[in-house]
Amino acid sequence: MTRKRPEELRSHRWFGVQDLRSFGHRSRTHQSGFAREDYAGKPVIGILNTWSDLNPCHAHFRTRAEEVKRGVWQAGGFPVELPAMSLGEPFMKPSTMLYRNLLAMEVEELARSNPVDGLVLLGGCDKTVPAMLMGATSVDLPSIFLPAGPMLRGHWRGNTLGSGSDVWKYWAEKRAGALDDQAWREMEDGIARSFGTCMTMGTASTMAAIAEAVGMALPGSAAVPASDSAHPRLATACGRRIVEMVWEDQKPSTILTPASFDNAVTVLMALSGSTNAIIHLVAMAGRAGIQLPLERFDAISRRTPLLCNLRPSGSYLMEDFFYAGGLRALMAEIQDLLALDCRTVAGVSLGETLAGAAIWNDDVIRRRDNPLKPDGGLAILTGNLAPNGAVIKHAAAEARLHAHTGPAVAFEDYNDMARRIDDPDLPVTADSVLVLKRGGPTGGPGMPEWGMLPIPQKLLRQGVRDMVRISDARMSGTSYGACILHVAPEAAIGGPIALVQDGDPITLNVAERRLSLDVPEAELARRRANWQPRPAHYERGYGKVYLDQVTQADQGCDWVDLHHGTAIPEPEIH
Ligand code: FES
Repeated sequence: MTRKRPEELRSHRWFGVQDLRSFGHRSRTHQSGFAREDYAGKPVIGILNTWSDLNPCHAHFRTRAEEVKRGVWQAGGFPVELPAMSLGEPFMKPSTMLYRNLLAMEVEELARSNPVDGLVLLGGCDKTVPAMLMGATSVDLPSIFLPAGPMLRGHWRGNTLGSGSDVWKYWAEKRAGALDDQAWREMEDGIARSFGTCMTMGTASTMAAIAEAVGMALPGSAAVPASDSAHPRLATACGRRIVEMVWEDQKPSTILTPASFDNAVTVLMALSGSTNAIIHLVAMAGRAGIQLPLERFDAISRRTPLLCNLRPSGSYLMEDFFYAGGLRALMAEIQDLLALDCRTVAGVSLGETLAGAAIWNDDVIRRRDNPLKPDGGLAILTGNLAPNGAVIKHAAAEARLHAHTGPAVAFEDYNDMARRIDDPDLPVTADSVLVLKRGGPTGGPGMPEWGMLPIPQKLLRQGVRDMVRISDARMSGTSYGACILHVAPEAAIGGPIALVQDGDPITLNVAERRLSLDVPEAELARRRANWQPRPAHYERGYGKVYLDQVTQADQGCDWVDLHHGTAIPEPEIH
């Protein structure tokens, strides 16, 4: 492998030449207390830090950035920390998804405009993972992703609690009258016990696994608990490795291939990971110039066994997964389904990173002869209700609902749903199909996680805990139930879901991958002719740019002008 010479470093254009501008670059670096020996001829490593007081999942990133710097110094690099927008899932409204592409753009432009040769990406809370990887892919500088790591498992009255999943479960019990306020307050205190990301197999855990499977995070990094001493050691290892990656010129474009994305999809299915990952993977692949159609997810789901026994599809939590062997153990178990020759940020092939991996608890990570399910937990549905596709995580739905026909109860938007869902007069039964409109990329806006529609209170009291629900929204990776999501095209732009009315029969058939609105085409044509769009949600600012640019769910919700395309020139330095 050829190695770069110091004069070939990107940062050399700022620091290594002798002119008026480089005088400024050097003198201002000295202003920060650094000497010429600290940086001259060394790779400059940008540590992109999404720390924020309003992102408890990233509360440890201030110290982790220092631990990354330690590794960079050890390896002969020059670390510089660059704060980037933090997408704190618990707080940001209307949805962090509205801002995923903004963070991706920030990562790309921070890197492009500054004198950095390589990047360590500190992210973890849901959208920060795809956003940072999308930005790094577009700017195509050597990059390692450092996952924030899962928080400790939750505890309450002798039970373990899982982020999100157990909130939804016990909230249903509370609404059914089976849980009092005191119990609810105790759960608030016990469910989030440390910094780190949600410790179920939600979007954060799924995306960390995908970052590792696609080759952009160090082997074994996806499941390291945030508060385990292994995590700062991992941070330092990232710092050491990125310096070498710069010398080797190992960029995302040398790692990301159609085969590496197939590996990521395979891991998604073996984990029964978050449905959100489908949107993110399509967008990430798009940044690399790779087409990843929804049919590919379905094909890989059919051939991949579900081996990971984590909530919401299974029983355990991320700490259990880590001590059971973690992602390397899982990938070793399905290695015949993976392209083992794909490159990784470790500088070796995926197959080489799996050497010595072992399963230490085969109830948490099931063996091939004892899967949780013989196929992956996700399916892509199509039909006249979703001509461009929809998603269901059937592994986390009651099996009796996998083939179901029932009358629609249609809600025009979220507020309509919130107003009427618990109305005793709502014409709903356990066989009804709840339909939520205007939860999509432009309708939400930002495609909020509204897709796990609440079960109407009168049905909860009858003991109903799952029913078929359909929307153009997403749902949290920690959610579960027979929720059909990401219906495309969305209602706000006149997709067929906009035409659903109360009482319309709707058929779901997972085995046939079918979702149909069983209404005569002539009647649908009549409704289509009368349909009117609502006024745009935003008429200025970021929101307007978002509405003008965002694509539909089946295209990854990336912005049109951020797609892979003509190379953007390096900035002039004068
Ligand atoms: Fe941050 Fe779940 S809220 S990962």
